[in-house]
Amino acid sequence: ASLMCVDFANIRDSIRALEAARVEYLHIDIMDGSFVPNFTLGPDFVKSLRSMTDIPCDIHLMVWEPERHIASFSPRAGDIVSVHAESTVHLQRTLQMIKDTGAHAAIALNPATPLYSMDYVVDDLDAVLVMTVNPGYAGQKLVPAALQKIGETRKYLNEHKSHALIEVDGNVSLENAVKMREQGADIFVAGTSSLF
Ligand code: DX5
Ligand code: ZN
Repeated sequence: ASLMCVDFANIRDSIRALEAARVEYLHIDIMDGSFVPNFTLGPDFVKSLRSMTDIPCDIHLMVWEPERHIASFSPRAGDIVSVHAESTVHLQRTLQMIKDTGAHAAIALNPATPLYSMDYVVDDLDAVLVMTVNPGYAGQKLVPAALQKIGETRKYLNEHKSHALIEVDGNVSLENAVKMREQGADIFVAGTSSLF
């Protein structure tokens, strides 16, 4: 469940509802106003969440030089931390930093980011976050080429004998989720599109 989409005035009730629905991860969008043109949540929010629930965090870092900020989120075993392919000069080291915390390491791919960005880090990946919208805002429409890209990512991972999971983020409506699953997606970020 995408936490940038919850009602912040009633966050405790929202967390209880997500626990009752047995949501597996709390997806937390971290934006720096530069890598993406928006600001959202931060380390203090994550700290508060941890005091309210044991649901693991799925921390999506949309920031430049994410390696400078990983520790401030205190990642733990069972969490996922995603960094964008273009956001750091030292991608492999950053993925290893995430693994050293005990969390699962994921690479995030923007709609226009090629799959070959994973070429020399595929063995370091526990998951691939395929963006199905351009990151930054909730409520956007699916980028049409992104659906096919999920299938191509699955093929790429199979060819590289990788067991990394595929996570999809953006406009995961009930209708789109079925198509994303058919293409091989494993983890679905539920936001404003996922209401029914
Ligand atoms: C993008 C965000 C959004 C949001 C998902 O960076 O991660 O994709 O949480 O919500 P909707 O369903 O509004 O796309
Ligand atoms: Zn996200």
